[in-house]
Amino acid sequence: MKGRELKIFSHEPVMLNEVLDLIKNFSSPACSADRLNILDGTLGLGGYSEAFLKNFPDCRVIGLDRDERAINFSLERLKNFGDRFSARHANFSEIAAINNEDFNVYVFDLGVSNMQISDPERGFSFQNDGPLDMRMNTNDENLLTAREVLENYDEKFLAKIFWDYGEEKFSRQIASAIKKSKTELKTTGDLVNLIRETLPQPVQRKMGTHPARRVFQALRIFVNNEMQELENLLKSLGGIKNNALIIFVAYHSLEDRIIKKTFRQWQTDDKGKILTKHPMTPAENEIEKNYKARSAKLRAFSIIRG
Ligand SMILES: C[S@@+](CC[C@H](N)C(=O)[O-])C[C@H]1O[C@@H](n2cnc3c(N)ncnc32)[C@H](O)[C@@H]1O
Repeated sequence: MKGRELKIFSHEPVMLNEVLDLIKNFSSPACSADRLNILDGTLGLGGYSEAFLKNFPDCRVIGLDRDERAINFSLERLKNFGDRFSARHANFSEIAAINNEDFNVYVFDLGVSNMQISDPERGFSFQNDGPLDMRMNTNDENLLTAREVLENYDEKFLAKIFWDYGEEKFSRQIASAIKKSKTELKTTGDLVNLIRETLPQPVQRKMGTHPARRVFQALRIFVNNEMQELENLLKSLGGIKNNALIIFVAYHSLEDRIIKKTFRQWQTDDKGKILTKHPMTPAENEIEKNYKARSAKLRAFSIIRG
């Protein structure tokens, strides 16, 4: 990783102070705040991990990410912390394989990182032209690219994806236009143009957001199997046998709902305690500085095992 790249990408960690405070307040008979073993389950650019390593001088952090570029970037960024930091290239679904008995703090900051969004070659952004890819793990042969999804699935199924994961009101019209398109949709720009041509101008003006935003979000969630990944992850976390703090930051109402429901069930099953009766949201001044933070919802759960 070149030093130049290290400078180019920056990711303002969302709700970092709230996450740090929760970890500071976390204590249990089995672990004290100075002997923390933290799993940063969505390493990204290592913003959280760096803050953990700096704020808790005796802690150890393992960062996990399905994107190999995030792993390489963060290993370089955090190399000065020596063996207090390590990283694994893996999916949430594989978390059970990383002996989770060792961790007492688990943090997940869902969604995409700035490194992924700002690289046109990855195809996540409706603002830069690039191949319609959107796979977080480009080595995973089981994942279809966004282009393949648009080619392989029928109109009805595409409309369902756009509605379920993007709450796109014009899901059916857009899916129909995609299937009827005479030109191949190879790039993010091709898809943006088609959406712009499909939606009536007055509708686009009223949207208050980029007309392609919802479709891009829906495709990204589908391509990366994000909901199933989250369900699998929560299932693994539900089996934790030691005292532990679990923190989620979610940006999509569907994800937040799944987390809320699971935490409620865990509490009913006496696995521990919900620490956030209502989700925590970013302060006004954080949203002013970092617009991406506006939709964040943080929920935390304390697993208590006798
Ligand atoms: C919002 S970013 C995290 C940013 C990080 N907190 C920081 O401060 O730099 C989310 C990261 O989670 C990763 N990710 C998303 N879903 C994943 C999954 N199912 N398994 C592993 N990593 C995942 C993405 O590749 C991305 O790098």
